[in-house]
Amino acid sequence: MRKKIIAGNWKMNMTVSETKELIGKLKDKCNTDKVDVVFIVPSIDVTTAKECLKGTNIRLGTQNFYFEDKGAFTGEISAKMILDAGAEYVIIGHSERRNIFKEDDTMINKKLIKAHESGLKPILCCGESLELRENGTYKKFIEEQIKSAFLNVSDVNAMNTVIAYEPIWAIGTGKTATSDEAEEVCKFIRDIIGKLYNDKVKDEIRIQYGGSVNSKNANELFSKEDIDGGLVGGASLKEEFIDIVNY
Ligand code: 13P
Repeated sequence: MRKKIIAGNWKMNMTVSETKELIGKLKDKCNTDKVDVVFIVPSIDVTTAKECLKGTNIRLGTQNFYFEDKGAFTGEISAKMILDAGAEYVIIGHSERRNIFKEDDTMINKKLIKAHESGLKPILCCGESLELRENGTYKKFIEEQIKSAFLNVSDVNAMNTVIAYEPIWAIGTGKTATSDEAEEVCKFIRDIIGKLYNDKVKDEIRIQYGGSVNSKNANELFSKEDIDGGLVGGASLKEEFIDIVNY
């Protein structure tokens, strides 16, 4: 069976000193092997976080990277830099990157390919706006996001991708998708993967839900058949994350 993966996306929060403090509070009670636990921290905090997490099973990730190896790309970081600093996961295509920083499907596809080539474990985000949810075209939109992200991605690499379904209307709003709404889309995504690849990839790929996950709704969401854990924003910055990990 698929192992659940529960990741905290810290977004642009936590200085180096705050990182030490927060990890000090979380690490013992989040240190489990029942689920994969990942702290996705600002890249500048990775080295410190790595040090603080020594001796635990908790893994690290970053929130973004660039698909070139090195060179004149001011402000960017490479896959090699992330791995060398001690992180192994990377978020690709978060709606905040797509909307605020104008990352398009082509760039997201290049990043997904590069992440796998480099040995990073990608968490690929997808999800619709409120407008698309309300006008009923959200499934078509998500299908396009998935198809374009996985263009020229091999079976094995697809299977080792984590997908995070994050409806934009549920992010940071306190308005969680109901467990049935989340399950409907996660199952839909799994079916798309089945059509693009095969039953093995469909059964093994892990699909998270993200969007106002908290200690009260985690259990119900993560009990759904096609939801393999969560990508948690706000609640990952608090001791509440312990209860989410131990849902
Ligand atoms: P919130 O949990 O704060 O809604 O954020 C979700 C998210 O964007 C995680 O990547």
